[in-house]
Amino acid sequence: MEKSGGCAGDRARQEGLEGIIAGETAISTLADGLRYRGYAIQELAAQSSFEEVAYLVLHGDLPDAVTLRQFQSRLAAASVDPAVLQVVRDLPATAPLLDRLRTGVSLLSHYDPARAAGGRDASLRKAEQLLAQFPLLLAAARCKKTGPITPTYDPGHGLAENVLRLVGGTAATPRAIPVLNATLIMYADHEFNASTFTARVVASTLSDLYAAVVAALGALQGPLHGGALERIGEALHEAFESGDPDAWVQGLLARKQRVMGFGHRVYKHGDIRAQSLQPLCRELAFETGNERLEQAAEQVEQAMRLRTGLHPNVDWPSARIFRYLGFSAETFTPLFALSRISGWCAHIIEQQSNNRLIQPRASYAGVTARTVPRLEDRP
Ligand SMILES: CC(C)(COP(=O)(O)OP(=O)(O)OC[C@H]1O[C@@H](n2cnc3c(N)ncnc32)[C@H](O)[C@@H]1OP(=O)(O)O)[C@@H](O)C(=O)NCCC(=O)NCCS
Repeated sequence: MEKSGGCAGDRARQEGLEGIIAGETAISTLADGLRYRGYAIQELAAQSSFEEVAYLVLHGDLPDAVTLRQFQSRLAAASVDPAVLQVVRDLPATAPLLDRLRTGVSLLSHYDPARAAGGRDASLRKAEQLLAQFPLLLAAARCKKTGPITPTYDPGHGLAENVLRLVGGTAATPRAIPVLNATLIMYADHEFNASTFTARVVASTLSDLYAAVVAALGALQGPLHGGALERIGEALHEAFESGDPDAWVQGLLARKQRVMGFGHRVYKHGDIRAQSLQPLCRELAFETGNERLEQAAEQVEQAMRLRTGLHPNVDWPSARIFRYLGFSAETFTPLFALSRISGWCAHIIEQQSNNRLIQPRASYAGVTARTVPRLEDRP
């Protein structure tokens, strides 16, 4: 069947919208390392808590001490209706954790009495609430116990400490909290990545914030995006158990499989977030007795550099950090989502504040025009 004409070169360049500037944002830039609202992520990770950065991403500026305390109090006061907690827990045991959370966020919208309220302040309120509700949902969704549960915040501690406790991290080392804060900070925003762009497309139809976050969670789940994170846990285990990480890499490449945690659409010479987390990951490995696993990871890295020239992305050290902190593999991608909610919501609010429907065009590559044959004449 004849294909219609068109410029193959243009199509190849546009596949995956690689390099296409699809809009403007004041939230983050990759132009000069990665910066949130003008601040380099390395500086933020070294000096701030995750709450400070979430506030920055959402509101546009770092909070002063009083504003931060008020923000932390609002987060700590959050709760989730018991009916929602029950549903995310009672979904079929085969439902992956991130899918449960996606359903949970969708349900939260029905329990928000001010869901229909519009405007920037209303969206910021929903965003802050969702940021605080998500770890509670996560705690409920992974709970295996029967009977009612009501996960709550300990207001005497920051979000990272609460996440460690609520989501089942077990590490009790002095580095656990600063490293978890730094890792969550790395995930807060990343310009027009697939899930954020999805959220903006949904927001651009004037749909509400919850619907846009549900869609973003759907986009995050895939292994080329956030889904890579939880797969790294299994892959690293396999590489380690094989006793020969280099041969393990060669085997995957020979089978044309991808090594999760390597390569990036934008960072072709290394991901600044991976570089920043690498030393923290190494320190934590030593503190938690995971030196041998860390050595295997270094061997995988060397093999990938040598055989493909690909560099690790942020997920490569993060998956190990989460593992060393005692989190189970199924929680890795949800932890990414927990942080990225700040970025998604900031982008949704930015889209709402200067909206134009996002509706690109497609270059047609199907058959040329033809007439509909009668049913009995069709081959
Ligand atoms: C992130 C990713 C989707 C970016 O991809 P991209 O810029 O669109 O690059 P492509 O998918 O076009 O890949 C280009 C080439 O590199 C190869 N490649 C890319 N990442 C690879 C990986 N992790 N392992 C092995 N090969 C890889 C592809 O097979 C392709 O090879 P080919 O040209 O011989 O077909 C890709 O690097 C990937 O799949 N990484 C693994 C998943 C991951 O870690 N995701 C989290 C991203 S933060």
